[in-house]
Amino acid sequence: MSNPRVKFIVPHLLERKNSSEALTMVTAYDSTFASIVDEAGVDLILVGDSVATVMQGQKTTLGVSMEHMEYHVQMVASVKPKALIVGDMPFGSYQASAIDAVKNAVRLIKAGAEIVKLEGGVHVQEQIEAIVRADIPVMGHIGLTPQSYHRMGGNKVQGRSDGEQSGGRDRILSDARAIEEAGVCAFVIEAVPASLATEITAATRVPTIGIGAGVNCDGQVLVLHDLLGLSERTFTFAKAYSNLRQLSLNAVSEYVSDVQQRRFPDSTNSFQ
Ligand code: KIV
Repeated sequence: MSNPRVKFIVPHLLERKNSSEALTMVTAYDSTFASIVDEAGVDLILVGDSVATVMQGQKTTLGVSMEHMEYHVQMVASVKPKALIVGDMPFGSYQASAIDAVKNAVRLIKAGAEIVKLEGGVHVQEQIEAIVRADIPVMGHIGLTPQSYHRMGGNKVQGRSDGEQSGGRDRILSDARAIEEAGVCAFVIEAVPASLATEITAATRVPTIGIGAGVNCDGQVLVLHDLLGLSERTFTFAKAYSNLRQLSLNAVSEYVSDVQQRRFPDSTNSFQ
């Protein structure tokens, strides 16, 4: 089905700062779900490294490679969505140097991403500046950064204590300032107290997109599998708008029973 919406492009991000219409972003990793979320009208599709946990069965996002991300970005880009395609930079693709960061951002853009996202604040300022100098738009990601899993001791809410130490409230404010100065077009704030996300959103010129960060961000993002009720676990910060896991289980169980009982295929599913 053709989608009459105007294509969402990077300059639209800034136009939506402090807009009455909040930005909407969801993840997708393949063409089927990319076409569904696009038709539903999301502004941005995040090809997230959460592909590790929701598609690859991993405990953390740390094992995702550039090749995996290129593959999933290509699948999403194949449907030519009106939504902006955000390509997530996997762990190890930008941490070591600005040169790595630019080379790997270029790979995601060649695969079909229209903006790249990377995690971190003060420590990745140089990498963000280098990617922006290469004319590639960057989305930041602060607060709970799942690629910092081991340093954080798990995926834990950040910014609950004061201070400039990693995960401290003041450090997260510094991270926000650093990535804004480095040139991000927008950034994700994940799993911080709503009051902190509100303060950051008020202080920055670029739009903030929250997940577990309260209602006052300029937009919201969810992992599609959580939104659809496909995930085995439920999370406080997410909301399941459907129960696709149970519906899928019912459908496949019915198929198994129909085949076992020779009710499928019947004459309408057979060639004469
Ligand atoms: O990879 C991902 O899905 C993300 C979101 C949680 C923001 O980074």
